[in-house]
Amino acid sequence: MITIRLATADDLPAINAIYNHFVLCSTCTYREEPETMEDRVAWFDHHGPKHPITVVELDGEIVGWGSLSPYHSRCAYRNTVENSVYVAHTHHRRGIGRMLLLDLIDRARAVGHHTIIAGIDAEQQASVALHEQAGFKQVAFLNEVGYKFGRWLHVIYMQLMLESDGQRERK
Ligand SMILES: CC(C)(COP(=O)(O)OP(=O)(O)OC[C@H]1O[C@@H](n2cnc3c(N)ncnc32)[C@H](O)[C@@H]1OP(=O)(O)O)[C@@H](O)C(=O)NCCC(=O)NCCS
Repeated sequence: MITIRLATADDLPAINAIYNHFVLCSTCTYREEPETMEDRVAWFDHHGPKHPITVVELDGEIVGWGSLSPYHSRCAYRNTVENSVYVAHTHHRRGIGRMLLLDLIDRARAVGHHTIIAGIDAEQQASVALHEQAGFKQVAFLNEVGYKFGRWLHVIYMQLMLESDGQRERK
């Protein structure tokens, strides 16, 4: 059985294991050292109701996670979030990434966010395609802002607006 739900502190070791695989072998994250459990707990504690962390559980195993994080610490950015989606490398191409992202979009709308930003390494065509499918549009391309595995990396920013013009109001 496959389910998606809010993460709990008990899920953090699985979340970290999924993420740290990519730290060591992929440009999808610009982190170069594995994330410690201490850092992961601090990250979890900084995500309140407006910034959910979700997991997909498949037959009792956590196989993917997603999050909405504040885009920027300055107060006027409060209705903008940045998303993350990570699926265990053993479970790609089974619809789990899409499940996580569409659910995050629903949750962002439900708590009144205005827009979602995704910062994606330009080599990550799977992630770009996933976000395009969910309605995100490319809004920026930053040239050579990262350096990992001995090469310069470019970042694509994609954005999804959550409200139509008629619904916009000051928050
Ligand atoms: C990007 C990622 C989350 C996709 O998750 P996934 O569960 O494998 O993707 P899904 O099976 O839900 O696929 C959804 C769509 O994503 C795109 N996609 C996924 N994998 C792809 C690939 N290898 N090549 C091209 N497009 C791909 C396709 O558009 C796909 O739709 P389709 O199956 O109808 O063609 C996963 O590859 C991953 O965890 N990558 C490492 C972490 C990462 O890059 N995260 C995003 C940064 S926040």
